[in-house]
Amino acid sequence: MPIPLRSDASLPCDLRGRALTDLRISVIDRCNFRCPYCMPEDQYPRDHEFLSKPERLRFEEIERLAAVFASLGVRKLRLTGGEPLLRRDLPELVRRLARIPQIDDLALTTNGSQLAGQADALRAAGLKRITLSVDTLDAGTFGTMSGGRGDVATVLCAIDAAQRAGFAPLKINCVVMRGVNDTQVLDLLEHFRGSGHIVRFIEYMDVGTCNDWRLDRVVPSAELRARIHARWPLLALTPNYGSEVAQRFTFADGAGEIGFISSVTEPFCGACARAAIGRRPAVYLPVRERGTQSAWPPARRRQRRGTLRSDPCGVAGA
Ligand SMILES: C[S@@+](CC[C@H](N)C(=O)[O-])C[C@H]1O[C@@H](n2cnc3c(N)ncnc32)[C@H](O)[C@@H]1O
Ligand code: SF4
Repeated sequence: MPIPLRSDASLPCDLRGRALTDLRISVIDRCNFRCPYCMPEDQYPRDHEFLSKPERLRFEEIERLAAVFASLGVRKLRLTGGEPLLRRDLPELVRRLARIPQIDDLALTTNGSQLAGQADALRAAGLKRITLSVDTLDAGTFGTMSGGRGDVATVLCAIDAAQRAGFAPLKINCVVMRGVNDTQVLDLLEHFRGSGHIVRFIEYMDVGTCNDWRLDRVVPSAELRARIHARWPLLALTPNYGSEVAQRFTFADGAGEIGFISSVTEPFCGACARAAIGRRPAVYLPVRERGTQSAWPPARRRQRRGTLRSDPCGVAGA
């Protein structure tokens, strides 16, 4: 029995008075990279059992769920994964989601490896914004941080393609790990400063005890910001909206904006306005709400009960 859509103007808030405005949708649990901070090769070997095709939510199910969330106040959708561009016919899903009347922002987070050939089709389908993950410009370190699967030149080509397709300015996510890429952040900024793209540095988070997380590998945003400020003075910007995950700064010399997502040292759960449909189809609600609900329609719930792992919650937001 489909869930009836609400049309009344009094949109619900959670027990802490937070309206749910953002929904992240994981369209596939697979990824072609093995970033050590997310899907380390030893936990996700070549024979790892990802969801089979029939176990994934179908496009019509995702569309229906998104419409239900939109009727409850969600206005922004973000497609993510795994690697969302591994999902066949993603532009078709984008086309379906773009026609939901209440949705005014539709975004994608991608590792960029498959983007160059799809950027135009995604734009034509109604995708509004793209965030790309680029942890370093150094080819060797990029190899390490993608588990030996990624190539930075391909991702830079994808950035050009996204720009040509009309997606500029892009957001560029960079997870910083001490002793791995933290000495390369200034090179990354040198490259993107003045381009209009917004680099956001993300503290390395624990994602459910499966990524060998260690506090001494986290570079606190405050430390990173001081390092950057010493080279290019920064000025703080006011948040665009209350639940924004990134603290925004601008280069004092006018070379554009950067952001810091301090999920470890300054958690922002209190202002969270985000729900997620996870890699295994389940709905994750903000902290202290009702936890996790299956996103599979009841008839499909029995098909498979897998282990849930936590997803990096706010990192791909905004
Ligand atoms: C899970 S990925 C999914 C989308 C796509 N595969 C990508 O990498 O952009 C979404 C974002 O989460 C970030 N992320 C993954 N694991 C993380 C971790 N342990 N700590 C902080 N950010 C993480 C990635 O860098 C990426 O920007
Ligand atoms: S961060 Fe993205 S690209 Fe890297 S392993 Fe996770 S899902 Fe794949």
